[in-house]
Amino acid sequence: MSQLNTARSSRDINGVRVPCFIYGTAWKEEATQGLVENALNQGFTGIDTANQRKHYFEAGVGHGLQKIYQQGKSSREQLFLQSKFTYQGGQDDRLPYNPSASLTEQVFQSFQSTLEHLETDYLDAYLMHAPSHREGTSEEDLEVWMAMEKLYREGRIKLLGVANFSALQLEGLTHHAAIRPRIVQNRCFASMGWDQEVRDTCQRHDIVYQGFSLLTANQVILTHPQFQAIVSRTGLTAAQVIFQAAHKMDMFTLTGTSKSDHMNQDLHCDKVALTDEEVNTIEHLSIQ
Ligand SMILES: NC(=O)c1ccc[n+]([C@@H]2O[C@H](COP(=O)([O-])OP(=O)(O)OC[C@H]3O[C@@H](n4cnc5c(N)ncnc54)[C@H](OP(=O)(O)O)[C@@H]3O)[C@@H](O)[C@H]2O)c1
Repeated sequence: MSQLNTARSSRDINGVRVPCFIYGTAWKEEATQGLVENALNQGFTGIDTANQRKHYFEAGVGHGLQKIYQQGKSSREQLFLQSKFTYQGGQDDRLPYNPSASLTEQVFQSFQSTLEHLETDYLDAYLMHAPSHREGTSEEDLEVWMAMEKLYREGRIKLLGVANFSALQLEGLTHHAAIRPRIVQNRCFASMGWDQEVRDTCQRHDIVYQGFSLLTANQVILTHPQFQAIVSRTGLTAAQVIFQAAHKMDMFTLTGTSKSDHMNQDLHCDKVALTDEEVNTIEHLSIQ
């Protein structure tokens, strides 16, 4: 796959424009609506959410979207909307489905509730939020995936994906799936070669890798002398260097910043180009 050109670019996957930088809406609670509006006004065109009230206020995302549409600043067709199905184990008591129903039914109920929250009749991408077990591809995961495939076949989802999957789990699902995953969203630790194994699996199967916690999971990197030297040479912020390096490593990225200036900086993280050597240094910086 080719490198992503700029932080504001997107890649066509199966006829869907997937933005390389997506605004994430976790942990925003009552501020969700305003932050979604702010992010779209700043230039983000992709929004990540989940029907998991414990960490996301999906209906608040929908309110922000409606406001933007009403103001004529964007339209549903211009945006990339991504949400997730979350097993009961990842939820609190505010479930978007009947827990006594089959997993297949839970997926359908959760998905329908997402469409209502976002006031849309389709999603650009829908992800299994996490596998049911730490290892392996379980019967539960296959049932959930087949329910997602049904929604895909009905044209209500354009791309299917997963989150928090290991390389082996990704291989397992790809092997069993009739409609293979096109997106993997994972926490990206520099100490694990920036999730090298999963990124390699993605490359083999032409899957988009979306990295999250790029800043919060890699605080040690930010103080590394070699990293600091790159920050000094470029005049970029540490966050900008991380995000640009991630794009040059062929990752798509998420940011959930609550600050307008950070949104703007993140979208312009490529205003000074890193050299190939600098990207290589960052890719191979291990925490010693
Ligand atoms: N699939 C999953 O299981 C999963 C799990 C976690 C997250 N996610 C997704 O990923 C999104 C992002 O989450 P995240 O874990 O990467 O953390 P995040 O919510 O983006 O948090 C980033 C932290 O870094 C700070 N920061 C400082 N400078 C920044 C800059 N220039 N740009 C951005 N942040 C800056 C932010 O503070 P300020 O607000 O002050 O900027 C914030 O405290 C979530 O909203 C969610 O959509 C998915």
